[in-house]
Amino acid sequence: MAKREKFCNRAEAYEAHDDIPVSPETQASIGEVIQKRYSRRDVVCGSLGVAAAFTLFGSSLLRSAEPARAEGGLDFDEVAAGIDDKHHLAEGFEADILLRWGDPLFPDSSPFDPRKQSAAAQLRQFGYNNDYIAFFPLDESGSRGLLCINHEYTNEEVMFPGMKRQDLACFPDMTAELVDIEMAAHGVTVVEIRREDGQWRVVRDSSYNRRITPNNTPMDVDGPAAGHDRLKTLADPTGRRIIGTLNNCAGGSTPWGTYLTAEENFHGYFWTDAPLDCGKPPAGLGGSQRRSYDRYGVPGMWQAWGKFQDRFNVDKEPNEPNRFGWIVEIDPFDPKSVPVKHTALGRFRHEGAEIIVNKDGRVVVYCGDDGRFEYVFRFVSSGRYDPSNRDTNRKLLSDGTLSVAQFQEDGTVVWKPLVFGESKWLTPDFGIHSQADIVLDARIAADLVGATRMDRPEDVQPNPVNNRVYVILTNNKDRTTDEDDAANPRPKNVFGHIIEMIPPDGDHAADEFRWEMLIKCGDPSVAEVGALWNPATSNSGWFACPDNAAVDSEGRLWVSTDEGDSSPTGRADGLYIVETEGPCRRTSKLFFRGPVGGEICGPCFTPDGETLFLAVQHPGTDATDRYKGFERESTFEDPATRWPDFDPNMPPRPSVLAITKKGGGRIA
Ligand code: FEO
Ligand code: CA
Ligand code: CA
Ligand code: CA
Repeated sequence: MAKREKFCNRAEAYEAHDDIPVSPETQASIGEVIQKRYSRRDVVCGSLGVAAAFTLFGSSLLRSAEPARAEGGLDFDEVAAGIDDKHHLAEGFEADILLRWGDPLFPDSSPFDPRKQSAAAQLRQFGYNNDYIAFFPLDESGSRGLLCINHEYTNEEVMFPGMKRQDLACFPDMTAELVDIEMAAHGVTVVEIRREDGQWRVVRDSSYNRRITPNNTPMDVDGPAAGHDRLKTLADPTGRRIIGTLNNCAGGSTPWGTYLTAEENFHGYFWTDAPLDCGKPPAGLGGSQRRSYDRYGVPGMWQAWGKFQDRFNVDKEPNEPNRFGWIVEIDPFDPKSVPVKHTALGRFRHEGAEIIVNKDGRVVVYCGDDGRFEYVFRFVSSGRYDPSNRDTNRKLLSDGTLSVAQFQEDGTVVWKPLVFGESKWLTPDFGIHSQADIVLDARIAADLVGATRMDRPEDVQPNPVNNRVYVILTNNKDRTTDEDDAANPRPKNVFGHIIEMIPPDGDHAADEFRWEMLIKCGDPSVAEVGALWNPATSNSGWFACPDNAAVDSEGRLWVSTDEGDSSPTGRADGLYIVETEGPCRRTSKLFFRGPVGGEICGPCFTPDGETLFLAVQHPGTDATDRYKGFERESTFEDPATRWPDFDPNMPPRPSVLAITKKGGGRIA
């Protein structure tokens, strides 16, 4: 049982528990030393803060070559790090709850009653576990727009009455009806919002509103794998028509006004009835695709869907897993449009798909494959972006070159193209028979060309202000002392790090970039942690397990964290602002702190910079057994928090916040 439990343990798989001692907060951090010697205002990493940092620590951590911001760093009183059942936001800002799980999206939506939930009701309501957010303006005023929001997964134990944490025991209590509700709670929401009197509201009768789910939304397929035998199923002998999308984690928005949603842990939705041996599927499962199954962890059995629906059972539909793990493009402006799975961008545990128009007009999409020791990918379109031709732009992600990053010790990033026949590795001699095989098994192709094994790549975020790219590496407790390398320098890396990639002359399509370490996360006051921050970072400002990132109009990085069940700091997840340029580079400040057990996702600014949308995912779930005073697994009846309603009849609800500055104006 223990072994089978290990295979079924979704929480372990999402965020591995680790028993490295939590950083003791008894010792003063470098930031605290500075705080004691200089007043708070002085260390907002303005001129005095920089002077202080130079005086105390020398110039080794500071980049003096670049000019300071005219106004110094972003000035606000940061939130104190810690953990409780509420959210906390920096003074001078306010957060409205815009959308909660179960909120009605249409005039005919049923009111939310978590004790009487049905799949039909859920299909007309806001889904669960909101993750990535994108905003598309509907007019010039900036007060009407469409929000697209991913719903990554579901947490049965706090969604359904009378339910324990199912992933710990292979779903004994799940039923076909509950699986239908879960499916309806997954996917994507498109919803119109309007700002009136400074407050954003959902427009329920908007014709744009749409729910896209794993079992209700047909999708097209394009690129090298479209129509390939490995995509054909009983329900789709063409291999070109897939029902639905799932585990939609982060994503992107294109300059031509479409939404990109990333299918991340797709393997976890597939099931086998075959008896498992030491947590591994039996020999023979997967047949000729066994190498692929093993490399992707199929079937993962993180969800019970395949117990009730044949297409998620690989014994019955062995090709269905090949139809997930892609980047999907959705046109939010046409509610009848058919989303497209772009196979040219490769199949892996796609975290996100952040896009930038290169100076030659080609579009470049950066993608992380979120698994321990997985890779950083880049797609460069063959065609060029044409601001006046949306139809042409809609084809840009159908054809191009997928590459994978090799981070070299001398600070070079080499982009290794994954093109059939172009290297001796990507040929039939090594089991690769076509470009379709390469994109379907992008992980295997990347193994063959010698890509660098990274510490769980999450967002890979281009910064249009300085033309650099941030690679967010959340953590990797499995890296051993023999496996460290320059780009992943810490064995047993429970805190994560952020690498900065520098394209030559801002050319995102170049064969080689430079790279630099931006942040090594964790408590800078504990030497064994080996953290790297600007010394002006306070004891509340450092963080662990970075996940999503957004860039503001001045090129700062807004980083949200997901410590997961491992919770190496014991602090609540938050949203941090990291300076990327000048003497303040590597300074981080805590802007928002979430409630216990919830990760923070999807930071998204409106074009006017006056609103920041933020997603709080799975409040009251992760690591609640270690939350002092609670110390047990959350359930529907007994959750660690009832955020955001704090109504004794409501479980915790994943929600999207609209954050604004009190009195109006730009946030950053
Ligand atoms: Fe869904 Fe890698 O976070
Ligand atoms: Ca994520
Ligand atoms: Ca991002
Ligand atoms: Ca994560």
